[in-house]
Amino acid sequence: MRKLRTQVGIVGAGPAGLLLAHLLHLEAIDSVVLESRSRDYVERRVRAGVLEQGSVELLNESGVGERMRREGLVHHGIEVRFGGAGHRIDFPELTGGRSITVYGQQEVVKDLVAARIAAGCELRFGVGDVAVHDVESDAPRISFRDGADEFELACDVVAGCDGFHGICRQAIPTANLSVFERVYPFAWLGILAAAPPTHDELIYAYHERGFALYSMRSPEITRLYIQVAPDEDIADWPDERIWQELHARLETSDGWKLREGPVLEKGVTGMRSFVAEPMQYGRLYLAGDAAHIVPPTGAKGMNLAIADVRVLAGALIGFFKARRTDLLEAYSATCLKRVWRAEHFSWWMTSMLHRFPGDDGFQQRLQRSQLDYVVSSRVAAASLAENYVGLPFA
Ligand code: APR
Ligand code: PHB
Repeated sequence: MRKLRTQVGIVGAGPAGLLLAHLLHLEAIDSVVLESRSRDYVERRVRAGVLEQGSVELLNESGVGERMRREGLVHHGIEVRFGGAGHRIDFPELTGGRSITVYGQQEVVKDLVAARIAAGCELRFGVGDVAVHDVESDAPRISFRDGADEFELACDVVAGCDGFHGICRQAIPTANLSVFERVYPFAWLGILAAAPPTHDELIYAYHERGFALYSMRSPEITRLYIQVAPDEDIADWPDERIWQELHARLETSDGWKLREGPVLEKGVTGMRSFVAEPMQYGRLYLAGDAAHIVPPTGAKGMNLAIADVRVLAGALIGFFKARRTDLLEAYSATCLKRVWRAEHFSWWMTSMLHRFPGDDGFQQRLQRSQLDYVVSSRVAAASLAENYVGLPFA
């Protein structure tokens, strides 16, 4: 058994773990990041793609925004499509000048991995048997295997940034955790296509055949989603069937056409809302998907992970530099305020835009009424826009 020591042991190299390590490094606080997957895997994994303005600002201020500023696509609105017509929600006009940036999560991950390596800081990919110990004490430990060697990492604090299926949340006794959850009766089938986008902004479509989303990653790559059954077998969806469904749900009689192209990637993602409270147990702090999940309709997942580690980094800086414990004590409550706002917004967008199995004329008319209201009332549109671009930090 080989012994290591650090100030903050970080489990998981997604956006949460990597950004936390980076923010701590800027303040000369030592950390070790442990990731079970390979570097290649985490840098290729296709995930979310929308950054709130506040997330963009944090990446820029912390010095990892250079490629994002060059390659990210700044969007000043989205379109909501239903009843055969499109309706634009103008973000800057409704939010006092705010907007979003379309930049893939794996690009954020690549930039943060590069920064970590350039700084010469510890980041281990492909580690196994990761387990956390003694988190109730002032001397928590993480054990893991790296190749043939067994390690024990002594820490002052452990950050559980290991996603929804990680081990950190599970290390908290069930009596000390409250879990709140909704599983939706549908999933998203997503594709990445080598097709230049034919629309400048995202399109959220409510359609009798089910929800569809038009998104993109670059001037050459389109990202598209359709609502499918939760247990949908991807084998039943040859590319032609996916394109047919996308044309039917997204195109209206205004003459706009989406462009097809070779499908580079496809997958089915379940839809869930989930929150574990509190986001802390002893010296173990949870951040990102390890603590909460939102359905992707509000584009909030990556932004919540970034918002959590902004708070956690600030609290840890106070702890290590000024022996302050108040910010760490407030960590969970501070994060959960933003988390529950995003949970509500994501649930609301999901409920308004999807077809529910067994729904009836009553529910569909409520959805249509809500959609009509959102695109015709400035106040309702401003509420959607304010949540979508991200609420300011307290
Ligand atoms: N040991 C080490 N690493 C682990 C372990 C483990 N036992 N279990 C999981 N991991 C790693 C995963 O391989 C993954 O790389 O933890 C990382 C968690 O990263 P994410 O799942 O990307 O979670 P997070 O950083 O919180 O970012 C949230 O991801 O799912 C999307 O929509 C979500 O955009 C949001 C973002
Ligand atoms: C994406 O581009 O992957 C994306 C965009 C907006 C969403 C969800 C996903 O709401």
